[in-house]
Amino acid sequence: MKEKAYSNTKVGILYDKKGVEPWDISYFKKEFEKKNIDVVLIDANKISGDYSLVKNPEEILMPELSDLVHKGYKIWMNRIYPSEASQEVINKGLNAVSWLSKENCKTINPLTACAADYDKFFAFECMQKYAIPTPRTEKITGERGANYFASEFSFPLIIKRNTGGKGIGVQKIDNLNKLEEVLRDKDIISGKYLVQEFVKPNKNHDIRIGVIDGKPLISYGRTLVSRNGDNKFWMGSCNHGSKIIPYEASEEERNLAVLASKAIGANLNEVDIQLTENGPVVIENNPTPGYDEGEENWVELIVNHILEFYPNKNE
Ligand SMILES: Nc1ncnc2c1ncn2[C@@H]1O[C@H](COP(=O)(O)OP(=O)(O)O)[C@@H](O)[C@H]1O
Ligand SMILES: [Mg+2]
Repeated sequence: MKEKAYSNTKVGILYDKKGVEPWDISYFKKEFEKKNIDVVLIDANKISGDYSLVKNPEEILMPELSDLVHKGYKIWMNRIYPSEASQEVINKGLNAVSWLSKENCKTINPLTACAADYDKFFAFECMQKYAIPTPRTEKITGERGANYFASEFSFPLIIKRNTGGKGIGVQKIDNLNKLEEVLRDKDIISGKYLVQEFVKPNKNHDIRIGVIDGKPLISYGRTLVSRNGDNKFWMGSCNHGSKIIPYEASEEERNLAVLASKAIGANLNEVDIQLTENGPVVIENNPTPGYDEGEENWVELIVNHILEFYPNKNE
């Protein structure tokens, strides 16, 4: 029965091709192919830029994709990473996801979750609606100065990119002088950055919980690292030296990760949680985390889940 369900499944992967193919894209492809599933990789750069969500892509043809959909590629993974892709490629990816869903394809993730992936402020608003503990967040614009943010958020506070990843551009600001200095940067006040309450950890690691379709299937911890050489350990980011440690999430933490995934509409998500004296706090959602060597198990779990639960609608 299962064998039959697999036999017609074909999978498309949207990604941002630059230089070497990312390890996880190749690994996903290999894992699907091991199960005799055809996989096509589509470079989002090659999708025409004529389409836009505003122009109602439901009425526009996407020749780059429609041929494949007709050939039976009905399950699509969006693997365009917020940490690296340009706004242009991100928009092409969102348009493709929107278009594919009206063609009755299953997209991982759906449009709303993809949008939240590239827009942390939108993700914050979604989580607020579900009363999820998460740091208060505002967009930084030139209209509001250092004194406003200092009085609203107090110190320390966090500044980060609205579209980001890998901990790049995440700064902890300890005092008004530093805040004034940072806000002199035109890029920071261009609307592309956020200010956030600082969530003080009370452990020396954070946690990441992987959720698929409402099931919290994996969890691990990341040791916290300091920035600016000040010996204050607060950031969980493997890109900045955090080490992965085993961690079995509690029921409360798992429920929180599931709720955060629901709030942004994600069927596949990794949720970063800071442990505090007032309980777990969601720092962010990662609907498209990059997987690295060492995470083979998780990629295999995802592939198995997709094949088991997302049968090809052609049948
Ligand atoms: N508001 C915050 N309070 C405390 N720590 C934070 C806050 N925001 C981010 N961090 C720390 O910085 C890390 C990277 O920030 P994050 O928002 O996850 O950005 P990225 O998308 O680059 O991973 C988080 O894993 C967390 O450890
Ligand atoms: Mg993160």
